[in-house]
Amino acid sequence: PGLDVLAKRAGLLYFGTAIDNVVLDNEQYTSIAHNRAEFGQVTPSNGQKWMHIEPQRNVFNYTLGDQVSEPGKAAGQLRRCHTFVWHNQLPTWLTQTTWSKDELIAILENHIRNEARHYYDECYAWDVVNEAFNDDGTWRDTLWLRTIGKEYIALAFQFARKYVSPRTRLYYNDYNIEKVNNKSLAVEALVTDFLGRDVPVPIDGVGLQAHFVTGRTQRYNQTVAALKLFTQHGLETALTELDVRTVLPDLPEKQEQQAADYTNSVQACVDVEGCVGVTVWDFWDPVSWVPETFPGEGNALLWDAGFVKKVAYYRVSDMLRGY
Ligand code: G3I
Repeated sequence: PGLDVLAKRAGLLYFGTAIDNVVLDNEQYTSIAHNRAEFGQVTPSNGQKWMHIEPQRNVFNYTLGDQVSEPGKAAGQLRRCHTFVWHNQLPTWLTQTTWSKDELIAILENHIRNEARHYYDECYAWDVVNEAFNDDGTWRDTLWLRTIGKEYIALAFQFARKYVSPRTRLYYNDYNIEKVNNKSLAVEALVTDFLGRDVPVPIDGVGLQAHFVTGRTQRYNQTVAALKLFTQHGLETALTELDVRTVLPDLPEKQEQQAADYTNSVQACVDVEGCVGVTVWDFWDPVSWVPETFPGEGNALLWDAGFVKKVAYYRVSDMLRGY
């Protein structure tokens, strides 16, 4: 059985993968990506980001998002939609103009309204806001914060709730929140604020991206504690972008360590009530975002360049079989 089959038996809703448009002409890649036994869920790694969806003001283009979602739909895979509000991969028309607060709020609502209607009830979850905090827990200085103020996050969730299907879960998503630390506590404070208002801000979940480094102290207990920071408020959680990158050259002992890091992470989600699923941030090493961003590091995923399953794949599989 594949990873999604085993994950479901262990009580998760899905085991999924991100899929990037740049490899969709590779049949070996797509046959694994849309193999329902391995992956019960897909996330477009780039296709639904603002620069692609609204390349000119009020001109919407869903080609790249649909390229990932249509075969996923045909294969019966759930979709996590990613992402409405981020500071990266924005179109130049948006970043190179100075907007007033009211203008930017109107642009935000228009973007969410259009994209939400296009994908209306096709998304199991939407990453409504992505990466709004710095590692020290302060608010990241972005176009959104500078122009609209802190209320931009609440507004984004309110717009999303207004326009997407009532069934779609609305998530806040971030990295380096897989431990109890300043950043995860800042996200928890945001959630507490949202849920405690007279009219609560609609939020259903928090996504822990889970970009890890082989052997660099991400422990099972830490992941469990971080997940519980959010489930204790009645929210659901998920590991949304799991990968474990290795400082090259790769060696057999590093692969064993990487396998342990993967396994501990997936197991933490399985063991925490309210953690609904795990998504790997792609599955095939050649398409990983890691080498471009961290030169000298790589081999972060579950299938190697020759499409051979790695030790980490088998260890995760064995762990899931134990449930
Ligand atoms: O599409 C062009 C292609 O036409 C061109 O030939 C190629 C040449 O380099 O570049 C392609 O664009 C790249 C794009 O990914 C598509 O693969 C960009 O250069 C590259 O910068 C971009 O990187 C993406 C990155 O977000 C941008 O910040 C990664 O693929 C994507 O995996 C990554 O995903 C983020 C999540 O959204 C949020 N969390 C962190 C995660 C990893 O950075």
